[in-house]
Amino acid sequence: MKILLTGGAGYIGSHVLLSIIENKHEVVVIDDLSTGNKNLIPDNVKFINSNINNAEKISNVLMKENFDLLLHFAGFIKVEESVQNPDKYFKNNTDNAIELFETCYKHNLQNIIFSSTAAAYGNPSNNESIREDENLNPLNPYGESKVKTEEYLLKNKDKFNSIILRYFNVAGADPELRSGLIANQPTHLIKILSEVVVGKREKIYVYGNDYNTEDGTAIRDYIHVSDLASIHLEAANFLLEKKISNIFNCGYGKGYSVLDVINIAKKIYGEKIKFEYDKRRPGDAERLISNVDKLHQHINWEPQFNNLDLIIQTAVEWEKKIHEKNL
Ligand SMILES: NC(=O)c1ccc[n+]([C@@H]2O[C@H](COP(=O)([O-])OP(=O)(O)OC[C@H]3O[C@@H](n4cnc5c(N)ncnc54)[C@H](O)[C@@H]3O)[C@@H](O)[C@H]2O)c1
Repeated sequence: MKILLTGGAGYIGSHVLLSIIENKHEVVVIDDLSTGNKNLIPDNVKFINSNINNAEKISNVLMKENFDLLLHFAGFIKVEESVQNPDKYFKNNTDNAIELFETCYKHNLQNIIFSSTAAAYGNPSNNESIREDENLNPLNPYGESKVKTEEYLLKNKDKFNSIILRYFNVAGADPELRSGLIANQPTHLIKILSEVVVGKREKIYVYGNDYNTEDGTAIRDYIHVSDLASIHLEAANFLLEKKISNIFNCGYGKGYSVLDVINIAKKIYGEKIKFEYDKRRPGDAERLISNVDKLHQHINWEPQFNNLDLIIQTAVEWEKKIHEKNL
């Protein structure tokens, strides 16, 4: 298949790019490098440095090439930043996305896979794992900006066949260390923990130990980024074959508290994993665990890296690599 991929210089997009290349599909990447890193895009990949809202530049690409599918990853992802500056998030994650979709529609590109988030759910109505038909109550502008884009796709089913993938917590790095997370002031727990292991920072701040969970810290469902990448290719096959819109959670269906993650890391790396409790962060949910029955029912996907030790180890190995190379 021939794929237009936005956000390919970012964490998740670059891993999906590796899967696309391995599976010998054709791809063009669009990224404005606002948070991405050009080093994550292999040299032989066609790359266009552009904002997704640049209709003229994107139309030029769409006029030259006939794509089967748009994989749309480009967006901003920091919950706390979105609380401080909501407009930045609505502009990029909603308005720019819609502008891109409209440009694609004008050039007959109508199949879309969209990166959404478990932040769309907010605090779910019960402590069970969350199904896709759970009410959407985002706790922060980041989650809201994604829900608005979902709503646009769902309202425009006559124009687009879309698969909305709601990712839970994405972590880890390519096991061959060809890609991983590069981020200034990261907010992902496992990234921060990796920086502690390599000595880039002293300790982890645990935001909130008064949640209504077994140990008081927030619970998340961590999925290895390479497993998430392979979901995209299978979802693409599903979309191109069935041409029907759908929504799927992407996770493993198991929750770990912040302390669980820290304790697993301590088991591997010893007592250098230091942490301190801090107050809750605005916009954080208490417990987010995916129900992935629907994903498994429709998508031909088997996880290969469903193991938190491995997720942490690949993240740490990647951190060592970028620390040494000063990336
Ligand atoms: N990382 C996670 O845990 C997670 C969880 C749920 C959902 N998501 C979603 O997955 C997608 C990818 O996330 P990520 O972690 O790879 O983030 P990232 O910041 O690493 O990657 C985003 C990429 O998009 C590019 N970009 C941003 N705005 C752009 C624009 N207007 N035009 C062109 N390029 C632009 C950035 O330069 C970057 O390369 C995002 O849409 C995010 O909301 C991520």
